[in-house]
Amino acid sequence: MTVESEHDLIALRRIGRIVAEALQTMRAQLRPGITTAELDHIGASFLQQHGARSAPQLAQNFPAATCISLNNEAAHGIPGERVVQTGDLVNIDVSAELDGYYADTAASIPVLPVAARSQQLCDCTQQALKRGIAAAKAGRPLYAIGRAIEQTARRGGFTILRNLPGHGIGRDLHEEPSVPNFYLPQANQRLTKGLVITVEPFLSLRANYVVQAEDGWTLKTADGSLAAQYEHTIVITKKRPIVLTVC
Ligand code: CO
Ligand code: CO
Repeated sequence: MTVESEHDLIALRRIGRIVAEALQTMRAQLRPGITTAELDHIGASFLQQHGARSAPQLAQNFPAATCISLNNEAAHGIPGERVVQTGDLVNIDVSAELDGYYADTAASIPVLPVAARSQQLCDCTQQALKRGIAAAKAGRPLYAIGRAIEQTARRGGFTILRNLPGHGIGRDLHEEPSVPNFYLPQANQRLTKGLVITVEPFLSLRANYVVQAEDGWTLKTADGSLAAQYEHTIVITKKRPIVLTVC
């Protein structure tokens, strides 16, 4: 969607903050021994307390309130009886709706101590998110975001999961345009003021794409290597974008 009024912006900021706080609340409870279902319940009750509805449940019939993906899983992991262990990389993705507006945020959180390369993957992916956001300005081509992400990944020696893009968002969870995480010259449409999108780089130690697991939801790296993702929902302006998914 494109922000057209002060009301739009206020409503987007409200849901942006709720998903960011839900993620932070879940993150604070992440420790070895907790199950992914327990973590999901924490997120689910936070959303409910704030009047928000889980977007994956609402829009996609996902079987839980949040997506929790471990290690070689990149996205759409289903929370369950799996027990979190030291050394795991736990991706929590929270998206939700309030008053007809959607926001989406995620982070990969290492359960310390983790292997040095896992930590580097997290650091580089966070850096890629920052650079991708900094490249997102009105008047620039959409591919500027992916180009900045790709440069950052390459410098760190990591690959990009090319079939997982960011997306437009706002009135629905997934809207146009698709936001590639690599330099795609055809994605040359100009970013416009007020456009609401997610920036969500997916990096990996070695993999270039994800495949769907047998559960019909989980997207895991094709070669089983580790994946990381960080995500914010932003509003395009002429200068730095407004990041909506902050506490
Ligand atoms: Co997300
Ligand atoms: Co998203």
